[in-house]
Amino acid sequence: MKRIPLEYAILGVAVVATIAVTTSAQAQATPATAAEKVKRGEYLVSTSACHDCHTPWKMGPKGPEPDMTRALSGHPEGVVMPAPPKLEGLWTGAMSATMTAWTGPWGVSFTANLTPDPETGLGKWTQRNFIETIRTGRHMGRGREVLPPMPIAVYRNFTDADLEAIFSYLQTLPAIRNRVPEPLPPAASVAVR
Ligand code: HEC
Repeated sequence: MKRIPLEYAILGVAVVATIAVTTSAQAQATPATAAEKVKRGEYLVSTSACHDCHTPWKMGPKGPEPDMTRALSGHPEGVVMPAPPKLEGLWTGAMSATMTAWTGPWGVSFTANLTPDPETGLGKWTQRNFIETIRTGRHMGRGREVLPPMPIAVYRNFTDADLEAIFSYLQTLPAIRNRVPEPLPPAASVAVR
């Protein structure tokens, strides 16, 4: 029998291995990519402070903590805020105990419901609506300006791939029906709702 030179044998094994890897990667390409995108989105949301403001905080055994049963559902509609405190001197802003209502020179803003509820959250948003909001700092890229303290100037630096991943993840959250109040103009001294 003719001997196959060692180099060819090794090459053969490598080629077979490459084909095997490529085939299995192609077979899984679509679901793996979608699942990986959601995973990446979850990672970005958990490291980019979204829960700090969009998940209502409650008092836990070790102090205040985000209430993950209401993850990313925004300012709770049942929490009626009193008039904001008078800010003086170097104090320029304040926030509610839930971390979802904020006051400053812009008035009072309430964090949005980011869950996919169609009426009160992002259920009807497209990926494009989301990306344009973050890129332009305007609601869906064309509405009113998104108010502080939403860190538009920071999140504008996300790549499109990152924003797509974040949006994909947000759309997998349990939908929570929670209608967040409209913002109040500066110096509004009335209680909300
Ligand atoms: C420091 C607090 C804060 C953080 C952190 C924050 N947000 Fe917000 N966000 C807000 C507030 C307040 C609003 C409501 C602003 C308004 O009514 O104009 C808002 C609004 C939004 C909106 C709705 C905009 C619209 O036009 O309806 C989206 C979408 C959003 N945030 C996504 C995110 C995502 C995703 C993250 C994390 C990557 C995040 N936010 C982190 C405070 C925050």
